[in-house]
Amino acid sequence: MTRRTPRFIQAHQSDSSDERAAALRGLLRTPAEASPKYFYDRLGSHLFDAITELPEYYPTRTEAAVFAAHGAEMASRIGGGASFIDLGAGNCAKAARLLPLLDPARYVAVDISADYLQDALRRLQREHPALDIVGVGLDFSSSPALPADLIGRDERPVFFYPGSSIGNFTPEQAQAFLAGLRAQAQGGGVLIGVDLVKPVPVLEAAYDDALGVTAAFNLNLLRNMNRLVGTDFDPTQWRHVAFFDSARSRIEMHLEAQRALVVGWAGGERAFRAGERLHTENSYKYTIESFSALLRGAGFHDQRCWTSGNGWFAVFWAKA
Ligand code: TRP
Repeated sequence: MTRRTPRFIQAHQSDSSDERAAALRGLLRTPAEASPKYFYDRLGSHLFDAITELPEYYPTRTEAAVFAAHGAEMASRIGGGASFIDLGAGNCAKAARLLPLLDPARYVAVDISADYLQDALRRLQREHPALDIVGVGLDFSSSPALPADLIGRDERPVFFYPGSSIGNFTPEQAQAFLAGLRAQAQGGGVLIGVDLVKPVPVLEAAYDDALGVTAAFNLNLLRNMNRLVGTDFDPTQWRHVAFFDSARSRIEMHLEAQRALVVGWAGGERAFRAGERLHTENSYKYTIESFSALLRGAGFHDQRCWTSGNGWFAVFWAKA
């Protein structure tokens, strides 16, 4: 059998002047905000991998348990021969475990940088010599539109969006994003991981662990902005803050100035009072009912949902 080689497409050029301008506008807002995309340079990706090993961070291993228990049933509902499109693929470990069950015709790994995908996809190709594998560098958070030729004409597109990354959008954005996926998934569907509402101490510990790994991950955004946007943040002057807002059903992550300080860049600056915060991310938590309604609102039908034994995490399959 001839072994194929993965193809790579870089569809997204990072840090155009538009992105820099948008980042600076966020810093000048009150309260100040930064895009979570600045978490993920190489170090940020490694810190996130470390987060997934923490005893407090339950989502990754709880989701893995749902796939381990119900993956075969998911695969039989989804059917073989699909074009399996992994959004935020990273090290591709989650998809790698599903591929033998799903048996798709094509695996499309999408991440912000095609470079990060190289090693993982080469390894995967050795295990699946006949599989058509494509790595795409794309910032799909701003628009879920994928390059048109990626979705093969003969294959049903199945979007894979694990890790409860959908929770990093507001519910309105999430519904619009899902509707955008649905529009590209005719004949296929979406397989998506969703973190559920649970006791507040469990939620808060997951985003503020004892070793300070999540703090380091959050603070790394400042280094990254310095490099990409040209700001002069001093990470030692900031501290990580994370809490659950029950009314909005979301974890909020912030960086808090520990003293009055000024952040500067070529052509501007922003003063922060002691205790003033820079909002870096939200992680919305859903109920089965609230997420099911979101999928319906986005136009999906024939939903199925599997949950972990403790009811902490759900995986939904829904047809486009
Ligand atoms: N989307 C996941 C979550 O909200 C992973 C994640 C994104 C995350 N940003 C994070 C985890 C920041 C910890 C801290 O849980």
